Amino acid sequence: MSMEMVAWQSMYQAAHATEEKRPFSRATLARIGTFAQPHRRRIAAFLAISVIVAALAVATPVLAGRVFDTIEAGGPLGVVVTLALLIAAIAVAEAGGGIVSRWLSASLGEGLILDLRAAVFDHVQRQPVAFFTRTRTGALVSRLNNDVIGAQRAFSDTLSGVAGNLVQLVLTLVVMLALSWQVTLLALVLLPVFVLPARRMGRRLASLEREAAEHNAVMGTTMTERFSAPGATLIKLFGRPEHETREFVARAARVRDIGVRTAMVQWVFVSALTLVSALALALVYGLGGWLAISGGVSSGDVVALALLLTRLYAPLTALASARVEVMSALVSFERVFEILDLPPLVAEPTRPTPLPEGPLSVEFRSVRFGYPSADKVSLASLEEVARLDSRGGEEVLHDVSFRAEPGQMIALVGSSGAGKSTIAQLLPRLYDVDEGSVRLGDVDVRELSFSAIRGGLGLVTQDGHLFHESIRSNLLLAAPEASDSDIWDALERARLADLVASLPDGLETVVGERGYRLSGGERQRLTIARLLLAKPRVVVLDEATAHLDSTSEAAVQEALGEALAGRTAIVIAHRLSTIRAADQILVLEAGRVVERGTHAELLARKGRYAELHHTQFDQPTTHSPVALAGS
Ligand SMILES: Nc1ncnc2c1ncn2[C@@H]1O[C@H](COP(=O)(O)OP(=O)(O)O)[C@@H](O)[C@H]1O
Ligand SMILES: [Mg+2]
Repeated sequence: MSMEMVAWQSMYQAAHATEEKRPFSRATLARIGTFAQPHRRRIAAFLAISVIVAALAVATPVLAGRVFDTIEAGGPLGVVVTLALLIAAIAVAEAGGGIVSRWLSASLGEGLILDLRAAVFDHVQRQPVAFFTRTRTGALVSRLNNDVIGAQRAFSDTLSGVAGNLVQLVLTLVVMLALSWQVTLLALVLLPVFVLPARRMGRRLASLEREAAEHNAVMGTTMTERFSAPGATLIKLFGRPEHETREFVARAARVRDIGVRTAMVQWVFVSALTLVSALALALVYGLGGWLAISGGVSSGDVVALALLLTRLYAPLTALASARVEVMSALVSFERVFEILDLPPLVAEPTRPTPLPEGPLSVEFRSVRFGYPSADKVSLASLEEVARLDSRGGEEVLHDVSFRAEPGQMIALVGSSGAGKSTIAQLLPRLYDVDEGSVRLGDVDVRELSFSAIRGGLGLVTQDGHLFHESIRSNLLLAAPEASDSDIWDALERARLADLVASLPDGLETVVGERGYRLSGGERQRLTIARLLLAKPRVVVLDEATAHLDSTSEAAVQEALGEALAGRTAIVIAHRLSTIRAADQILVLEAGRVVERGTHAELLARKGRYAELHHTQFDQPTTHSPVALAGS
């Protein structure tokens, strides 16, 4: 390794050391051990090769010294040729060993990345919806990318850095001391001059780099937010583009200044180190030459010492910063483990109860529920704000009970914020109740496997999400085995077949985020088609027809009626016309069921339902709610 590379490397390591000086956590080390465990054969092979390569690296200077001594002694030629051939053989062996050890460390490192990524992805996917509503996607993605790679780099750097360098350092020192202890000690005197500034400069660079990273992160967030279609629209309508540009350019300019300064600091540092090592070399020549002339050592020894010196500084510097490497390794690992340690608030039972066959009943038994507070579902380091949401934990549903017999339809009505969507979300276990139970087919949903819940229940919400994928794959998400004729049948019934057929790419048209822009109503009908395709036994519709105009609503309503036939259904509708046929209507206010009964019963009661009904269907001028309640 060249002097300059060593200098760069130690600068890099010092700059990437974290300020925190946490004690070595035994638990973290043990867990890294469990990740390293499956690779232990390769680690052992890697260490063995490192030792061999290090020994070879020390052998060459010694042989070169012997060549000089033989030349000075005037022969024999055979020895010189043999030594030269040996040096050549060692060079070949070193190159070969280098390839093998590089392959080993690369496959170890990449293997570790794979293991960590698989573990984190799988674990994050198991987190409840509450986790995703709180965490910043960017922060999460960065954990999966940067920290996993940081952990890997630190792992393989530590492995090759510590193991290989330690062997090389010890061997080089032993050989140098054997050749001449005076020269060796003198060469080591300059060492602190080499290592100490690396630390100091490293710290300065680290703070500069951190500042640059912050600016870059803010610029990145600004760009992803402002350059998304909705963000760009908002800026065009209400924003101040000149101000935005000024702010952005100011940050970019600061990054430029930091870049120039970093480059200069690094250059000064590298030059200084190159100078120090050149001075040490001069010392070896001076003192070694004097010793050689006075007969203490041979001239071949001086050559060997000079060559060995260049192989002494590299491992010394690397080892000096090894502590730093281990620290950053632990920090990266801890950031990854922090995610792996977050227990999913909604967990699958180890021994799930099977879901009964046939139509299913749906029951809420004295359910009390409050959205979980931030500290229960998320990590402060992943949150948009470090402050906890004070609303978390407040009870949203108070003692809600109802039962839909198999095949029945229950309708939920009530003003906005009453808790209707919350009820819909408790059924598929997007959240768990605090008290009471939610039962599907007379089984507590907490005793069912997630796949049984997914297979038995379909939820369509007002803002049905579509992935940036083809219409076909968006539909197949719910029913991977569905055939093309099933898909067209579902589209037909969702009154969407004509539209899809008219698209140039038909089923292959990419929709969602950046794809073909479906209108709100079309998007909604597509999510209904997805539901029809999945054929769940229990259907939950949360204002699923809210985006539709009256004509298409009537059409979709017809389709839904067909889909709901024979199925248990929980329907939340803001238009009361759609729920007249319900077997039971629940009126919800502030998290409580305040009225229940059929349409006719509730109208006759002249309570809250009747009030809502008249508000929607009477002429706006002919009543006031108070008058109605009293009439
Ligand atoms: N993710 C959430 N975290 C915390 N509170 C929530 C969340 N979602 C809804 N709420 C609150 O729960 C209450 C009921 O909301 P919701 O069930 O969506 O009402 P509805 O669907 O009847 O309009 C409201 O007070 C709302 O602010
Ligand atoms: Mg709602």
